[in-house]
Amino acid sequence: MGGQLTRDQQHYLQLMGITVWLDRNRLVAVPIPETTPVSAQSTVPAPQPDWEILQRQVAACTRCDLHRTRTQTVFGIGNRNADWLIIGEAPGAEEDRQGEPFVGRAGKLLNAMLAAIGLEREQVYIANILKCRPSDNRDPRPPEVSACEGYLQQQIAMIRPKIILALGRIAAQNLLKIEVPIGRMRGQRYTYGAANTPVVVTYHPAYLLRSPREKRKSWQDLQLAMKIYQETR
Ligand code: URA
Repeated sequence: MGGQLTRDQQHYLQLMGITVWLDRNRLVAVPIPETTPVSAQSTVPAPQPDWEILQRQVAACTRCDLHRTRTQTVFGIGNRNADWLIIGEAPGAEEDRQGEPFVGRAGKLLNAMLAAIGLEREQVYIANILKCRPSDNRDPRPPEVSACEGYLQQQIAMIRPKIILALGRIAAQNLLKIEVPIGRMRGQRYTYGAANTPVVVTYHPAYLLRSPREKRKSWQDLQLAMKIYQETR
């Protein structure tokens, strides 16, 4: 797999803040995956009662104290039949307001990261470890993670993704139940659950906004994830 990047990929790499011409000789073109466009899927979707029940349960959840301070829960969004599941940490202020994950600045960068490997936001499913915002943007506490993790487990079981991309230390450590620092988790292939779903870890987009130099490593992680995904097909 080699060759030039497409114009779109160059454009989105630039949005990610990666100077394409510096890396061109080392970059590998990543073909756009041949997934069915959302618009080409059946216009009469099969009933999915489990999703509706789960979504209602999450909206009414009072299993931890975060329900006291949330504006609303942030369930997750995207293609419920997605090959790619993207997992972040917890809603921020904007997500809490809008009820959708990754809609703030970090979300814009996430969209660019996905586009850089040929994926549209609508093609993937995006969820968080926590469905409610920790008020002062602090790290999720273990009891909050425990209270919430059944919801994410059910989402994963229903989506049955071909690959999971974990964004940042909190997402990766809580998903994989390991305490390895993020610098050592990235660049590896982990697996999740009985289905051995491959998991790739990369930096959280909010961290990349603060540390743009690390975008280069994140681009390597995205390429690794795409390579692993292509091997599953
Ligand atoms: N950061 C996250 O981890 N998740 C969001 O939904 C938004 C910001």
